[in-house]
Amino acid sequence: MKTAAQISAATAWCRMAPSPIVFVPTMGALHAGHASLIRQARRTAGPKGSVVLSIFVNPTQFGPKEDLSRYPRPFAADRKLCREEGVDLLFHPSPEAMYARDHSVSIHEKSLSSGLCGGSRPGHFDGVCTVVAMLFQIVAPDIAIFGEKDWQQLAVIRRMVRDLRMPVTIKGCRTVREKDGLALSSRNRFLSRENRSMAPRIYQTLKARSMEVAGGEVSVARLRRNLIMDLAAIPGASLDYAEIMHESTLSPLKKLDAKNPARALVAVRFGDVRLIDNMALPTPR
Ligand code: PAJ
Repeated sequence: MKTAAQISAATAWCRMAPSPIVFVPTMGALHAGHASLIRQARRTAGPKGSVVLSIFVNPTQFGPKEDLSRYPRPFAADRKLCREEGVDLLFHPSPEAMYARDHSVSIHEKSLSSGLCGGSRPGHFDGVCTVVAMLFQIVAPDIAIFGEKDWQQLAVIRRMVRDLRMPVTIKGCRTVREKDGLALSSRNRFLSRENRSMAPRIYQTLKARSMEVAGGEVSVARLRRNLIMDLAAIPGASLDYAEIMHESTLSPLKKLDAKNPARALVAVRFGDVRLIDNMALPTPR
């Protein structure tokens, strides 16, 4: 496995690498969720293609009061995992390498980014879009893989790629969960023991809505009310948002039907740890 910290080295490597180039952008602190993205990348690239993974804790997607400085950076362990999972190039630039000191250009997606996580994290998706676009410029991947865990991010990236006509195919990868249902996240390690034991109830409340739809419920208002009630009842949790939206336009729905694939999306805080999760709702017959 080749590692590169400089943009010029990464670009030179990528321009020579056998195609298809399949790219997995991350912020490091890699866990089994990231590993499943890498495995999907490896399968997609095939034995002859190239898998590129980036680790960059992107400052522009963190708000002033957010956890940028305490974001975990276990580089040696990350590098080991990349090697074991068959990454060909690990690109890990510094913030100084990525951003000119007076950088003044960014990408703003103005529709899908405004609600959900964008509502509680203003500017977050500008930072995500900008850095992903920069990474795409450097790596020039044929395919890039993102996790469904960050559903809004996946939808926003798809929109950016569509609207800016970027020559890359975006693929989603299913959410990897702990045995008890909690979606893997680098932030789970900050949960107290008590909060960690309550956090799987986020998944259970999503699952319960999916069962209600399977049982014939089509009213989004009722589903959403139950979602909010269940989340509010989790000891130690405070609700950030709970919505049921069209899965790709992220617009609100009134009623579930076969024409509008729906997804439940939630964010919950346990103290200063903010967890997000989402689940597809079944299509009513
Ligand atoms: P990060 O949080 O490191 O996540 C990197 C990728 O891993 C994202 O596509 C995310 O959705 C995926 N991922 C995280 N947890 C997952 C899980 N439990 N199951 C499946 N996939 C999971 O997302 C980012 O970094 C950044 O915003 C980035 C896109 C790199 C831009 O800075």
